[in-house]
Amino acid sequence: MKYRELGRTGWKVSEISFGAWAIGGAWGDVDDKESLAALHAALDGGVNFFDTADVYGDGRSERLMAKLHKERKEKFYVATKAGRRLNPHTADGYNRQNLTSFIERSLRNLETDAIDLLQLHCPPTEAYYRPDVFGVLDDLVKAGKLRHYGVSVEKVEEALKAIEFPGVQTVQIIFNIFRQRPADLLFAEAQKRRVGILARVPLASGLLSGKITRESRFAKDDHRNFNRHGEAFDRGETFSGVDFETGLSAVEQLKKLVPARATLAQLALRWILEFPAITCAIPGAKRPAQVVENIGASDLAPLSKPTMKTIGAIYDARIKPLVHHYW
Ligand SMILES: NC(=O)c1ccc[n+]([C@@H]2O[C@H](COP(=O)([O-])OP(=O)(O)OC[C@H]3O[C@@H](n4cnc5c(N)ncnc54)[C@H](OP(=O)(O)O)[C@@H]3O)[C@@H](O)[C@H]2O)c1
Repeated sequence: MKYRELGRTGWKVSEISFGAWAIGGAWGDVDDKESLAALHAALDGGVNFFDTADVYGDGRSERLMAKLHKERKEKFYVATKAGRRLNPHTADGYNRQNLTSFIERSLRNLETDAIDLLQLHCPPTEAYYRPDVFGVLDDLVKAGKLRHYGVSVEKVEEALKAIEFPGVQTVQIIFNIFRQRPADLLFAEAQKRRVGILARVPLASGLLSGKITRESRFAKDDHRNFNRHGEAFDRGETFSGVDFETGLSAVEQLKKLVPARATLAQLALRWILEFPAITCAIPGAKRPAQVVENIGASDLAPLSKPTMKTIGAIYDARIKPLVHHYW
């Protein structure tokens, strides 16, 4: 495992880290025993950074992180998120009272006195135009409840606005072979300000592992079933917003580029690591074998120039017209 600096925190985090949404819920049935085994496998493989949220399984994912802390001695960082408990989910809801109470709840779930990294959880765009919201987070850092804070965003423009606030250490954004726009402008701006970038949905919800076919069926409570067209939350969070059939046929082209002894999932993760602005990719995983495979991407040799060029061409021809200007 290789490690990269996270913003100005002074922390060095694993370039392949762990996304803990699926072990909380919304991805079909999960078994806590298997989820914990996946978390242990991550630590065994050198992962030292985990991304969760208060709403993943209504705290189930955060509580698994607390369990992991008790079962292991090594130091690791946990990033969580706040805001999505709001109903309705409005910018007004991102106020001192609500944020404080969400954070107190996360502290209890995580069984800790201070949250390593708190991210606003894809708030409405309007929230980024309210300095008060960031002022509340500054106060929570001063009070010792948060070590650092950042944002998780849907759109590049939201990220560009958020990083104007000097306390923002990280931006979490969808970035993968099927979502390339963040590399155009955001990465340079983030590097200028030494803001860390967490690449979420790095496997386009599993599409970029190459295992999904036209015949694949997803459980009723799996968002790949119930949110394909954005019925429950942002469309871009499921298969990265790419039309399923188009995604599958682009995956067939990508399979031809997989280096010897590697897998498509590893190629997809290695592609993300080619960008120096990236701090880490946070692939979700529910099973130890997935974790081990994903971690393997850190050991792959850098991708060749022709491979990078071909991936760019596949994106430009097949995917870009469908997604580029939406996020
Ligand atoms: N709004 C937000 O802030 C937000 C939104 C989305 C995600 N996130 C964060 O980003 C993380 C990653 O995104 P994501 O989980 O949505 O999508 P992802 O990482 O692109 O896909 C994860 C899914 O792909 C499958 N998978 C993982 N590794 C695999 C492998 N090696 N081979 C085959 N299949 C594999 C697993 O599902 P199956 O085994 O069921 O196929 C897994 O749950 C989340 O866990 C969460 O921490 C944040």
